[in-house]
Amino acid sequence: MIRTDRVVIVGAGLAALYAALALAPRPVLMISPDPLGQGASSAWAQGGVAAAMGPADSAAQHAADTLRAGAGLVDPAVARLVTSQARDHILHLAALGAPFDRDGAGGFVLSREAAHSLARVVRVNGDGAGAAIMAALVAAVRAAPSVQVAEGWVATGLRLKGGRVAGIDLALASGSVPVPVAAPAVLIAGGGSGGLYAVTTNPARIRGEALGMAARAGAVIADAEFVQFHPTAIACGADPAPLATEALRGEGARLVDADGTRFMAALHPDADLAPRDVVARGVFAETQAGRRPALDCRALGAGIMADFPAVAAACARAGIDPVRQPIPVAAAAHYHMGGIATDRDGRSSLPGLWACGEAASTGLHGANRLASNGLLEALVFARRAALSIGRNGPPAASVALPDPAPAPLPDPALVARLRQAMTAGAGVLRDAQGLTDALHAIAAIGAAQPGIPQLANMTATATLICAAALARRESRGAHCRTDFPDTLPTGRRSRMTLAEAVALR
Ligand code: SIN
Repeated sequence: MIRTDRVVIVGAGLAALYAALALAPRPVLMISPDPLGQGASSAWAQGGVAAAMGPADSAAQHAADTLRAGAGLVDPAVARLVTSQARDHILHLAALGAPFDRDGAGGFVLSREAAHSLARVVRVNGDGAGAAIMAALVAAVRAAPSVQVAEGWVATGLRLKGGRVAGIDLALASGSVPVPVAAPAVLIAGGGSGGLYAVTTNPARIRGEALGMAARAGAVIADAEFVQFHPTAIACGADPAPLATEALRGEGARLVDADGTRFMAALHPDADLAPRDVVARGVFAETQAGRRPALDCRALGAGIMADFPAVAAACARAGIDPVRQPIPVAAAAHYHMGGIATDRDGRSSLPGLWACGEAASTGLHGANRLASNGLLEALVFARRAALSIGRNGPPAASVALPDPAPAPLPDPALVARLRQAMTAGAGVLRDAQGLTDALHAIAAIGAAQPGIPQLANMTATATLICAAALARRESRGAHCRTDFPDTLPTGRRSRMTLAEAVALR
């Protein structure tokens, strides 16, 4: 057993990097499967960070929009907390070097995204916010003497001692026997579960493993059933599917079917700018009916190439000319609203374990996350979790990680089966039969390759999503049950352990 006084941070996206900086000068060991800055969903975020920065906006209005989009499950106190701290975090990011787009007077250029009552999303180079913010944070972390980054390693399990999280098992991302590390505190900041689905906008490695690891240790998981599907992933056969940001619709792009008909106009008063769950179901229905939904950006003209360079580059790779032809789109698993249940300081139900970012369920997103609130939540709770863990700690030498023996990774054929099962049973539309079938399929997939912690972590998260979806006998936000289409008068957040989820299958 390796022993360290360093705080272990699992993950290397925006929440992890920001938490590591907020913990300084306390020594940190950050677990990054890929070279720092690569492989995290945060770097792929196009829209930006929602924050009431404009003269006509207020934190109260931002909180009200968050509550409305969340379909009755947003914790109002959390929404007030997060939206009121947004400005401070944006200014801090700018001070760290995030090159936000500015107008001639130095003010922030703001994008409009669905379900926001006005333009409120700070952006970088049009659609490059995630990559630019991550670049600034990676540089700051590389320069921070308190942070040791274990690149090419993954966390595979939590170690408990007397009911407290007392450390972690690490393995090489390429597959190795686990290396146990005892540590004073663990912060899980590596969330996301999109890769559990056959069609996703998330990087390949984002498949619910950190959440599953916490669940296998007994942590309470909240709102696991709420998986957000993005309506406009570019349907070009690529896995993962590239994103066409919602900000395009904010600028006038419109969803059309194969005949050029604007189908969202018939589905919601806000049409293309309706809440994301509504638009995702609209696009999904068009796909199912064979009407080949597409995002018509032609009204934006040639400006799309300069204003949305990430989308333009993805289209070029797919052989699509967005100036001349609508971009084929599909609904794709994009963001997990559910996660490790945390309090306002990022504490989980297990002493010694904190969580932030997409791995956590803080109560901000409810049943449907408001666009660009994800990065904001990561910033707010990364700092709060860091302060709760404590910035004071003993000095700690670098952890010398060994060269462990190789061990197998999950069988790709089983992973593919898991992704198909989740898409079929726990996708945009759900019912009891499909969810029960998915639960049985997940159990069989786990049993087919026992003793592989990465697969056990994935199947744990998949089980929680399906079990919580089965238990929620209503439709609300992103959770749509065709056998229970109504929304119950009172909304309740779900809380479940893995043992409770397994008992439901
Ligand atoms: C987008 O740019 O459409 C995605 C933003 C988000 O998921 O918050």
